[in-house]
Amino acid sequence: MDQISLCVMTRELCHQLYQGWENDPAIYMDMGLFSPYRYSKEAVDRYFDAKQTPDRVLFAILKDGAPVGELQLKQIDREKRECALSVHMQNDGVKGRGYGTQAERLALRYAFDVLDMAAVNADTVIKNTRSQHILEKLGFQHVRDEGDFRYYRRRRE
Ligand SMILES: CC(C)(COP(=O)(O)OP(=O)(O)OC[C@H]1O[C@@H](n2cnc3c(N)ncnc32)[C@H](O)[C@@H]1OP(=O)(O)O)[C@@H](O)C(=O)NCCC(=O)NCCS
Repeated sequence: MDQISLCVMTRELCHQLYQGWENDPAIYMDMGLFSPYRYSKEAVDRYFDAKQTPDRVLFAILKDGAPVGELQLKQIDREKRECALSVHMQNDGVKGRGYGTQAERLALRYAFDVLDMAAVNADTVIKNTRSQHILEKLGFQHVRDEGDFRYYRRRRE
């Protein structure tokens, strides 16, 4: 299988990523909120700047040196030793090839081994069965459903 890697997102990678970005309807419970993505240099600069916070690591998912997705470890709480994971591949052309699963596996290793977290949380909209399948495969436990969301938690082994 093709290998991917995670690296901390740079501004340049972020622009490369979003130049080829497609929004995915799977993450919208209310499809009235969905619209196709349009690249804007200013919007990506604002997005990148907004993600530079001490409670977050924004990663690029790289394949052959090019970004094919982004993954965040966010809400990093160093006292409680927990954080939350979110992931989104760049477009349909790079989905369904095992990259998302590999990226989440690498992120768990980073959260436990580098950040010394005791648990990683994740949530998906109820209809996003693809994301739920991957989380369950990687050992996340279904914690609860609330409103449109299904909540998961993965404890360190
Ligand atoms: C979710 C996402 C990150 C997964 O990445 P990916 O590279 O497409 O996924 P993979 O190819 O690694 O794995 C897909 C798995 O889901 C399974 N799958 C595909 N469609 C499915 C569906 N509708 N229901 C259940 N499982 C499904 C595949 O069979 C595969 O599992 P397997 O390896 O056990 O056969 C990616 O699809 C994405 O960016 N989606 C849009 C954003 C999103 O949903 N993010 C998560 C929000 S919490």
